[in-house]
Order: sequence, then structure tokens, then C-alpha cells
Amino acid sequence: MDFKGRDVVSINDFTLEEINYILDVAEKMVPAAKGEEVLDLVPGKLLASLFFEPSTRTMLSFETAIKRIGGKIIGFSDVSSTSAVKGETLADTIKMVEAYADVIVLRHGREGAARMAAEFADIPVINAGDGAGQHPTQTMLDLFTMRQELGHLRKMSVALVGDLKYGRTVHSLTYALAKFGVNLHFVAPEVLQMPPEVMSHLEKRNATYEVHEDVSEVMGDVDVLYVTRIQKERFPDIEEYNKVAGAFRIDMESLEGAKRKMIIMHPLPRVDEIAPEVDDSKHARYFQQAFNGVPIRMALLALVLGADVGVLK
Ligand code: NCD
Repeated sequence: MDFKGRDVVSINDFTLEEINYILDVAEKMVPAAKGEEVLDLVPGKLLASLFFEPSTRTMLSFETAIKRIGGKIIGFSDVSSTSAVKGETLADTIKMVEAYADVIVLRHGREGAARMAAEFADIPVINAGDGAGQHPTQTMLDLFTMRQELGHLRKMSVALVGDLKYGRTVHSLTYALAKFGVNLHFVAPEVLQMPPEVMSHLEKRNATYEVHEDVSEVMGDVDVLYVTRIQKERFPDIEEYNKVAGAFRIDMESLEGAKRKMIIMHPLPRVDEIAPEVDDSKHARYFQQAFNGVPIRMALLALVLGADVGVLK
């Protein structure tokens, strides 16, 4: 499979076979991700990391990933120090950065920003989150975590809990899980339910999903509980946010009746939707999940930069 020069904008741009292949390559990256091996797959290649919105994990794991495969990084995470504040357009920024670097990682507050950047740039553009749109590399690490923990991605039930309206991680993940034929449960207050366009995408593909308001309705049935933060920054009106803030919280009591092997995931950061006491339970996987961002991003960067991943054992 040849990924050289490919953009990573939407999870829908990838077939099931391509996703499985990326997960397989990521698995081979794990020793180097942990620092047990040293790789030099992309010597001299430069990643431009453009973060117009805050990030901890995504930004640091991309930086770790490019360095772990032998490349280098430039970029910014504080927009106030860039010419964007002088009114420079994203298109101009991209056209310039394309001449500096070999691959661009972009996080932006506007839905569709990554798609536009990919159209302007000849070098690969990786979407690290575009507003309430998508977050495809998060989805790949989420799938990687599920496969690692459950041994497969088929015949399982996944509940997506929280802000399904504004959460980009759950949008990308829903599209991907539907490809794998997973049973989906959307658990959210009505005002934060999955957008109609995502649901109609599922209906067109005969994917099955159920809508719930309370997590207790699904607790005994699911293999994965994927919890998300309410995306405060995307609410047009703070009053609307206040109505749903703290609407749900996973604690040890709420986990009663869960399958023994059920795992809890969260893209992080969390606010108060998972009680810290859950961290020590046998179900918690969110910190393992955060680590998996490194091997997944190593694999993606190596592939789009055209490295020979055949040398990996
Ligand atoms: C998420 C994001 O930025 O979409 N964070 C991440 O990349 N892991 C989730 C969030 O901000 O709630």
C-alpha cells in the first residue's frame, strides 16, 4: 500500500484495509515509541506543526513521533505570536509553510480548515482537529487501543458518551466504527446528540445505532465506554453550556453491572466526566490510549513521508 504524499483530513478518506494496514504498521512502531529501539526512517524530514487551537497530547505526541522516526519539527502553538493576528489568511500561511517543511500537521478552530489547507499544499496535510469537524488521527489511535485491548474490531458494542454534537473525536470515530460493523450507542442529553448528518450517513450504510439519554441504559451491554468532555468552547451561548455542564459523570457506582472486560476510553482532557477513583479500576484505559498516539502518529508520518516501513520487524 502506498501512502506517500497522502493527506489525512477525514477518516472517510481511508478504506477498512488501509486503516488496518496503518494499525499494523503502528504496532511495529511500539518498541521505538517506548524508546527501546532507535529508528531513522525519515532522516532530515521536517514536520511543520501548526496549532491554532490549544493541545497537549496531540501536539506532544506528533512531536515525539517525528523525533522517534528520525525527523525534525518546526511550528507554533501560540497563535498570538504569529502573523495570523495581523490578519494573514490560513491559505497564505500554508503556502509559505509548504516551502519550509515536508509535512504539515494542522489544528484549527474552523471546520473544513484542514481540507482547505490540503488543497493549497502539495505536501501532505494531517488534520489534528478542525473545529467540531473531525480528528482522524485520534480515531486511528482509538481503534488501535480497542484492537489491542479486545483483540479485534468486529462484533462489539461501543457507547459514545458526552458531547456528541460538538466533539470531533466522536464524529470521526463513529464513521470508522460503522465501517467495521460495530454496534453503536449514542449516549447524550438531547441537545448534545450526534449531528443529523452523521446519523444519516449511518442510515445510508445500514449501520445500526441506538440513541440513549442515560448511560445506565447501556452499561451492561457494551464492550467500550468512550467518554468525552463537553466542548465548552464551541457553545455559541454560555447559558446553553451551563444547562448541560456536569450532566453526567462516570464513577464507580455507575459502573455496576458493566461487563468484566469492558474498557473505558476518553480522548482527554477530562474535566469532571470521569471520577478520578475510576483511574484505578480494571476498566480504565485512557492513559494507555494517550500513549498510543505516539506509535500511530509515527506510522502515519512514516507512511505519508514515503519511508520504507518494510524494514520494520
Ligand atoms: C480532543 C480534541 O482536541 O478534539 N483532544 C485530543 O486531541 N485528545 C478532545 C477534547 O478536546 O475534548
